[in-house]
Amino acid sequence: MDEVLKKLEKAVVGRRVEVRLILAALRSETPVLIEGDVGRGKTKICMEIAKALGRPFYRVDGAPDITPSKIVGWFDPSLVLMNAEEAEKLGIKPGFSWDTFVPGPLTRAMLDGGILFINEGTRLPSDTWNVLLTAMDERVIHIPKLGGVRAKKGFSVIVTANPMEYAGTYPLPEAAIDRFVWVPMRRQDPLEEREIIKRELLARGYDHIAKNDELLDLIEACVDLTYRHPDLVSGVSLRAGIHMGIVLGELCSEGGDWRNESILLNAALMAFTKKIRVRDDVTKTREQIVSEIVSMALRGGAVAQEPSSEPFFRAKGAGTPSPRRGGRRR
Ligand SMILES: Nc1ncnc2c1ncn2[C@@H]1O[C@H](COP(=O)(O)OP(=O)(O)O)[C@@H](O)[C@H]1O
Ligand SMILES: [Mg+2]
Repeated sequence: MDEVLKKLEKAVVGRRVEVRLILAALRSETPVLIEGDVGRGKTKICMEIAKALGRPFYRVDGAPDITPSKIVGWFDPSLVLMNAEEAEKLGIKPGFSWDTFVPGPLTRAMLDGGILFINEGTRLPSDTWNVLLTAMDERVIHIPKLGGVRAKKGFSVIVTANPMEYAGTYPLPEAAIDRFVWVPMRRQDPLEEREIIKRELLARGYDHIAKNDELLDLIEACVDLTYRHPDLVSGVSLRAGIHMGIVLGELCSEGGDWRNESILLNAALMAFTKKIRVRDDVTKTREQIVSEIVSMALRGGAVAQEPSSEPFFRAKGAGTPSPRRGGRRR
C-alpha cells in the first residue's frame, strides 16, 4: 500500500485525504461516489488511483445513450447466426453462447474482479442505473440466455458526479445514493492549484510560462479572484488558469510580451469569460468583470493561503504545497 501511496503522491498534487478515503472504499469493495464541481480533479484522481493499483479497470463515460446492454454486453449477430462449419473453423459455439457474447465493461469488471469507473454518473439514464444497482448490491447480474454472472473478489465501482451540472443530466436515483459512500472534492488550496497549473503547462511544453513564477502567481491570482469577486456566484475551475497559461504560451512564443496588458487581458478573456458564473442582478458584461479581475491581479490582488470555501477535514500534513520559488511575494 505504501508503494501505491508513494506513486499517488507524485502524480496527484495534494488530495491526500481524498486519496486515502477512495482507497479505503476500494479495499472494502464499497461503491464510492466522488462529487465535485468541474475541474476539481475527479477524473484525474480516479485515473491515477487505477494506474497506481494496477488492477483491471473499465471506464464508462456517462451519456444518455449508455443503455444497459452497452454496459452489460450484447450478442454479435454475425457470430450468433454463423453456420456450424465456419464456427468450427473459428473454434466457437454459434447461437447464444459466451463465444458470441461481447461483454460490456460491467460484465468484464465483474468477471475480472476489476474496478468499474463511471465518469459523470449523472449523465446515465435510469434503466442503466437499475442494472448497476443489482451489480453493486448483490454482486450478481443476469444475462439473458447465459444466466447469472457473479462478481469476482475485487469488483468495485467508482462514480464521479458534478452536483452543479443540470443540462443533459438525471438526478442520481435515491437507491443508488443509498449504496454509495461519498467523497467530496472541494476546491484545493490556491498554492496547490498553482502547482497543478504549472504541471499542466509543463506537460504541454509551455515551459516558458510554467517556469515564470511571477506570471504563474498572476494566473493563479486571476483564478482566486473569481472566488471573491462580488458579482460572481462562485469561482472558476483551475482549467481557466490552465487555458490562460496555454494562450499566453502561444501568444508569447509569437514574440508577444506577457507584461503587455492587452496580451494578458486577451488571454484572460479567452480563458475566463464563458466560465464565470455572474449573479442574476448584475448588469455589467462578463468581459467587464474579467477585465476587472485582470486589473486587480496586476495590482496584486492577494492570493489566499487557504481555500475560500470551508475546508474538508485534512490529514496530518495533508495539502502542504510545495514552497513558491522566488517570484512576487504577497
Ligand atoms: N490534484 C491534482 N493533481 C494533479 N492534477 C490535477 C489535480 N486536480 C486537477 N488536476 C488537473 O486539472 C485538470 C482538471 O481535472 P479533472 O480531473 O479533469 O477534473 P474533473 O474531472 O473534476 O472535471 C486536469 O488536467 C487534471 O489533470
Ligand atoms: Mg471529469
